[in-house]
Amino acid sequence: MSQSSHSPVVLITGCSSGFGLLTAARLAAKGCTVVATMRDLRKEGNLISEVNRRGGTVEVLPMDVTDKQSVMRAVERIRMGHGRIDVLVNNAGYGIGGFFEDLTDEEIRAQMETNFFGVQNVTRAVIPLMRQCRRGKIINVSSVAGFSASPSFSAYNASKWALEAFSEGLRYELQFFGIDVLLIEPGTYKTKIFYENAQYARHFDNPDSPYFIWSQHLRRKVMAYVNDCHKDPEEIGIMVEKLIRAKNPPFRNIPDIESQVLYWLRRILPFRVYSAMIRMFFMEGFSKSRSVEADHAPMRSERNSSMSAQVR
Ligand SMILES: NC(=O)c1ccc[n+]([C@@H]2O[C@H](COP(=O)([O-])OP(=O)(O)OC[C@H]3O[C@@H](n4cnc5c(N)ncnc54)[C@H](OP(=O)(O)O)[C@@H]3O)[C@@H](O)[C@H]2O)c1
Repeated sequence: MSQSSHSPVVLITGCSSGFGLLTAARLAAKGCTVVATMRDLRKEGNLISEVNRRGGTVEVLPMDVTDKQSVMRAVERIRMGHGRIDVLVNNAGYGIGGFFEDLTDEEIRAQMETNFFGVQNVTRAVIPLMRQCRRGKIINVSSVAGFSASPSFSAYNASKWALEAFSEGLRYELQFFGIDVLLIEPGTYKTKIFYENAQYARHFDNPDSPYFIWSQHLRRKVMAYVNDCHKDPEEIGIMVEKLIRAKNPPFRNIPDIESQVLYWLRRILPFRVYSAMIRMFFMEGFSKSRSVEADHAPMRSERNSSMSAQVR
């Protein structure tokens, strides 16, 4: 893909870190015309350094996917500058942890606003340009959480599950115009989504919550799993590159083995067996975790006041 008027114009959302940043840098180095968007341009430094390190160029534009005006402004600037968008990568997103009763209505709606309606805002703005050209690819970054649910992630699960249904339906609608809609469903990769960008329900650390001991156990469990995860987040960029090049790419694309296995188990096992397996994974070590909790009980209220200050 050498950069020329024929190099694909690729718009990517959420490029300040993680998959978005790596995908933008990778595609730029491969000669794509990359428009990398992020909601806070003060965070562009890491992307620019990565692009400089690998070679290539990116155009960075502000875009908050929940703000329709900012979406329209960015897409209009691309239309004026390039006249087309060949590929849209809907990547921006976050995950909120918390049991349903610990989550507020606002927190659940905010999750949907970004991961589901945010994708729709950008897609709605981009489709007319693709329709005019009668070609295009819309690549939606879903998750293993879009087909397999887990305790304390139901809001995130719902947002990605909705994204999957929307993508499947939209794929039929846009085929008449030569526009393809694709999903990437990654498993766990160590990115800021689990650290700086992690969000928790307002009552996640409330010791009076009936879920307190479970949520503390689950956070420890998930973070131990993430800390031990050595998969390369670049795999998502590699997959995006492959999908851009492919003539007839499959609808579902799962980059990592563990999610591929989960996908097939989910399809072939009776749900009773599958859900018992999921439950076992999450509850394993629970009694050990409870005794750690009991040992630290006096520290709880102190920690809670600092945690609640962090939670948005
Ligand atoms: N890492 C994983 O294990 C994993 C697995 C499956 C799926 N995913 C999905 O992959 C995507 C990227 O996540 P990541 O792992 O790369 O995490 P990340 O490093 O936290 O990156 C998330 C990106 O989304 C941006 N973002 C969040 N809300 C936004 C908004 N309203 N408008 C524009 N940008 C916004 C963030 O911007 P700020 O810096 O401004 O917050 C950041 O650039 C997400 O959709 C996530 O659900 C991740």
